Amino acid sequence: FRTPLVQAPILRPTRVEIDPLDGAPANYYSVSEIAASASILPRLKTPILGYNGIFPGPTLSVDQGTKVVLRVRNKLPATHPLDGHALSTSTHLHGSASLPQYDGYASDITPPGFYKDYHYPNFQPARTLWYHDHGVHNTAQNAYSGLAGQYHLHDPLERALLPQGPFDVPLTITDAMFAVDGSLGYDDNDHSGLWGDVILVNGKPWPVMKVQKRVYRFRILNASISRSLRPTLSTGDPLVIVGTDGGLMPRSRSVANYRHAGAERYEILIDFRKYQTGQRIELRNFSNKNNVDYDFTSKIMAFDVVGDPVDTMDPTWNTIPTTLVGSEVMSLTAAQSTKTRHFRVKRNDLTNLWTIDDGSWQAVVESGFTKVAANPALDATEIWEFENSSGGWFHPIHIHLVDFQILGRNGRAPFPAEMGPKDVVYVGEGETVRLLMKFGPHRGKYMIHCHNLPHEDHDMMVQFSVGLAAT
Ligand code: C2O
Ligand code: CU
Repeated sequence: FRTPLVQAPILRPTRVEIDPLDGAPANYYSVSEIAASASILPRLKTPILGYNGIFPGPTLSVDQGTKVVLRVRNKLPATHPLDGHALSTSTHLHGSASLPQYDGYASDITPPGFYKDYHYPNFQPARTLWYHDHGVHNTAQNAYSGLAGQYHLHDPLERALLPQGPFDVPLTITDAMFAVDGSLGYDDNDHSGLWGDVILVNGKPWPVMKVQKRVYRFRILNASISRSLRPTLSTGDPLVIVGTDGGLMPRSRSVANYRHAGAERYEILIDFRKYQTGQRIELRNFSNKNNVDYDFTSKIMAFDVVGDPVDTMDPTWNTIPTTLVGSEVMSLTAAQSTKTRHFRVKRNDLTNLWTIDDGSWQAVVESGFTKVAANPALDATEIWEFENSSGGWFHPIHIHLVDFQILGRNGRAPFPAEMGPKDVVYVGEGETVRLLMKFGPHRGKYMIHCHNLPHEDHDMMVQFSVGLAAT
C-alpha cells in the first residue's frame, strides 16, 4: 500500500445546448480512443489503450434529465500491438437504457480513423454506470488494455441521502499481469478467463487513500475481465451497501463481505469516525470459488485515517441512511409476470464455445442478426431464470436495456447485498437465479451475455428483442 489512490479526471462537456424539441439540456462530450503509455509499476511504462489515453478513462458526471451526446473517436492503430486483432470498437454505456443504435451492439463497430456519436437519455434514477468497449470478439482484450471508465448519474434524492463531491469516491478495481518490461500480459489459453496477480484500483497497484473521520461513499466497480471479488474490511466492521447496479436500494444492508463479479457495481458507505487518527484500515478480498488466487490478490487497498473532518456543509457527512428509495423495478411483484423463460448457461465441450441456451453470437451473426433468444412485448413483465450447469465456472450474466430484481437463488432469498436494482447477476456454480423485469421503454434488439469477457468473446452472447414480431 504505497501508491496514493488517484482519481480519473471529470470530463467536461465541449458544449451545452437546449434541445428545442423538449427544452431539455444536452451536454456534448468527446473522447478519443488512443494507444498510450501509463505509469502503473515503479520505473516502468505500460502500453495501454485508453479513452483520452488514460486508464480508467475520464469520469462523466451528469444530472438526471440532462441528455448526453458522447462522440467517441477511434484513433487507435489498425491492429492491437499484442495479438494483432483489428481495433474496431463499439462503445457500450453499461447501465443505460439507450436506444439500440447507441447501445454498443457488438457487431456495430467503428474502425480506426472514424468516430460515432452516442446519445444517452439519462432519464433513469441515479446510479453508477460505466462505459467500455464492446467490439465483437475482442471485448476482453480491449477492456483489459484499458478501454473502460465510470459514468455517474445523479438525482435530487440521491444527492440528499449520500455523500457527494470529494466524499463520493469511484473505485474501479481490476486485476492484471505484467511482463518484466512493464507491458500487460494476456494469458487466456482455453477462454475460461484471465487471472492477474496484481490488483489495481483506479489504475494503481494496491493504493492507499487518506480519509477523514466521517462517512465516505465508494462506488465500487469490478472492471476485471474475469475475476470476482469478495470485499471485506480488515477491522471486521461491516460494509454498508446502499446501491447496486441500477442505483439506490430500498434500504441499506450491512454485510461482513459480499460477492462482487465483473461489471457489477456496489455503492458502499464506510464510517471512519470510530477509528483512531493514524489507523490503517485495509480493504481485503476473500476468495470466491473458481478464481485463480496469488499471494497478494487477497488485498485491494488501504485507508489511512488522517484526522477530524472539516465542515463542508455536506448534510450527509455523519449519517448512514437505512431507508433509501424504491426504484420502480423493486416494487414489481412476481404475480405481474406474464411469462417465465428459462436459460441454461454452459460450455459446449465439442466446440469449446460457451453458450446461453445453446446459442452463441456466432449463430446470431450467421442468422443475419435475426435470431433472438427471447422476444418479450413492449412493457411486458417477465421472469427469466438462468441455470448454471457448467459445474466449475461462475457466470456474471448481463442483460442490456433493463434493470431487474433478483427474486431468488436456488429457491432461497437473494443475498442481502443484491437486494437492489441490478443489471448483472452472479450465476454461481450450480446456481439457478430467478429475475423479474419489465421490458422497455425502447423497442429493438439487445444483447444478453456473460461478463466474464473471454466467455463473452467465445461466444457466450445472444440477443433478445423487445416489441418486435417474432422472426
Ligand atoms: Cu458491460 Cu454488454 O456489457
Ligand atoms: Cu461465463
